[in-house]
Amino acid sequence: MRLLIKIAPSILSADFGCLDRELRSVETADYIHFDVMDGVFVPNISFGMPILKCVRKLTKLPLDVHLMIEKPIRYVLEFADLGADIITVHAESDEQREILKAIEDVKNAGKRCGISIKPATPVSVLEEYLELVDMILVMTVEPGFGGQKFIAEMADKIRCVRKLVDERGLKCEIEVDGGINSHTAEICVESGADVLVAGSSVFGEEYRDRAILELRRSGL
Ligand code: DX5
Ligand code: ZN
Repeated sequence: MRLLIKIAPSILSADFGCLDRELRSVETADYIHFDVMDGVFVPNISFGMPILKCVRKLTKLPLDVHLMIEKPIRYVLEFADLGADIITVHAESDEQREILKAIEDVKNAGKRCGISIKPATPVSVLEEYLELVDMILVMTVEPGFGGQKFIAEMADKIRCVRKLVDERGLKCEIEVDGGINSHTAEICVESGADVLVAGSSVFGEEYRDRAILELRRSGL
């Protein structure tokens, strides 16, 4: 079991009417997870650059930007300029050659880069990217909406990714996203995840510090 679990509250579930207060309430977290959706790659639209700019001013925590958009190469540099610290692109969002270029752009901009796979995408797809990225994001729900139920079968996938990362001695973090609460967090951590994204199980609670601590304890 891993002891150093990072928690990344997803502001998709925050109250945008008081973003300042919402961000202050999760100061004990490790990252702020920022879900960008374009209505094409996923059937939902969330937020983009202007909100990122605003969030950047309101928190010192690293911004973990999850791009659920088609052809992310078009925008990665802009997100980097606006202060994203980690930029994750989906393996399914463009041709492999373009995804590799997007990863290179992120690295050249001096930012950390992640690659994400949807629940139906096999782990073998990660092969081309493994050695290049700082983070692997395993989706534990179908991307697009907060508040969905954790897909239990994803535990095996996390295990598989952990094995791959350890066998090759890679340093990248394994992040999980979707349906994470104190119960499913334990399953994910046992399977090898070290960064837990949590939307509703943090922002849906009145006492955010306590919710974050509870998720963190899943690693103990
Ligand atoms: C879903 C997003 C998630 C979402 C998670 O497509 O990538 O980050 O905010 O929300 P919960 O934790 O409520 O499942
Ligand atoms: Zn996300």
